[in-house]
Amino acid sequence: MNPLQDKRIVLGVSGSVAAYKAAELASKLTQAKAQVDVVLSEGAERFISPLTFASLTGRKAYSSLWDSDAHVVHVGLGEAADLLVIAPCSANTLAKLATGQADNLLTLTVLAARCPVLVAPAMDGGMFEHPATQANIQTLRQRGVQVLGPAQGRMASGLLGWGRMLEPAEILGQLRLVLSRGGPLAGRHVLVSAGGTQEPLDPVRYLTNRSSGKQGFALAQAALDLGAQVSLVAGATAASLPTPYGAERIDVDTAAQMAEAILQRAGSADVLIMAAAVADFRPRQVQPHKIKKNLLPQVELEPTPDILLAVAEQRRRIGWPAVVVGFAAESQNLLENAQDKLARKGLSMIVANQVGVPDAGFAVDTNRVSLLWPGGAVEHLPLLSKSEVAEEVLRRVVALLAEG
Ligand code: CTP
Repeated sequence: MNPLQDKRIVLGVSGSVAAYKAAELASKLTQAKAQVDVVLSEGAERFISPLTFASLTGRKAYSSLWDSDAHVVHVGLGEAADLLVIAPCSANTLAKLATGQADNLLTLTVLAARCPVLVAPAMDGGMFEHPATQANIQTLRQRGVQVLGPAQGRMASGLLGWGRMLEPAEILGQLRLVLSRGGPLAGRHVLVSAGGTQEPLDPVRYLTNRSSGKQGFALAQAALDLGAQVSLVAGATAASLPTPYGAERIDVDTAAQMAEAILQRAGSADVLIMAAAVADFRPRQVQPHKIKKNLLPQVELEPTPDILLAVAEQRRRIGWPAVVVGFAAESQNLLENAQDKLARKGLSMIVANQVGVPDAGFAVDTNRVSLLWPGGAVEHLPLLSKSEVAEEVLRRVVALLAEG
């Protein structure tokens, strides 16, 4: 399901001090199981050697146009590529691409490519803002080239401005997104909730739970990898997790805010996956000032809105979302409790996991879950990483959507 797996990626590197970051990108792409062919311009070779890339990718890195086999290489690389990305792309290479020049192996390969082309410009602020560069970028965009960044920040010259190359992790996210767009969830909107909510007691204290949000974020990534448009409603305990590239992220603190965020979007979503650990109760009154310790408080609690019940009601009226998946984290009677929630909340499927065991549940990177369907079918999955659990869940979601 990893959209980068076995993909042929041509990574073009042109002459910019940001060339060192291309080594990290080559390494990340290789780790993601892509086959990475690096093509350096002459300028790039002044900053970094082909040997660096060959060592990272395990494949030959190309540079000179005058290697004995280079004329065949550029056509072969260009035609075989699933995606071509130039990172960093210097002002000079941008200008060459805009005018269709082919004076080195990199620009020749771009002309031979029939795949999506992406460029990540890197140059000094003044050069990026120059009307010539802007016009070149415009031309390339009109031709369907995707321009990634640049970011704002401090540049090698010491200037602050627009012109820094995007970080390798961001470029990787963008490539992953481009390669996933034709997947089985293309055109589908998947809404995912993740993490735990926080229910305030006074201005400094709150009630919360141990959910890390990792499983929900992995579900959002898996849905993106299958081509979906993804909205991710993240509870407060997941605030520090990085947003899966390409997902719309809505950060919320409380159960009430999560309910509002979900109900606003559920009517137009094809799929809702409620992985969030929503607080079931909250202090009835939020104290406006910090409670002093000499006033040992009697905290009165009230129930929060049950989001899935509200979605079920809305779904009965309007028919959307087509598929609703719930989670059940239980410390005892896992299957009975999960089956009960499945029926009570009108779900298409429920993912049940045992909490309080060392290798599954909160905070860890692995999970052991069972999947339950209406009618009583149960499937027990082995111990998997949370990404693998997410892939398995999304596989079932694709099947449920196909059943209509
Ligand atoms: N859920 C919800 N709204 C709530 C509480 C939970 O939508 N206020 C969702 C969760 O996101 C999860 C499912 O309901 O997908 C089951 O949550 P869980 O906390 O296990 O069940 P509860 O309904 O809260 O029941 P109990 O606390 O008795 O286990």
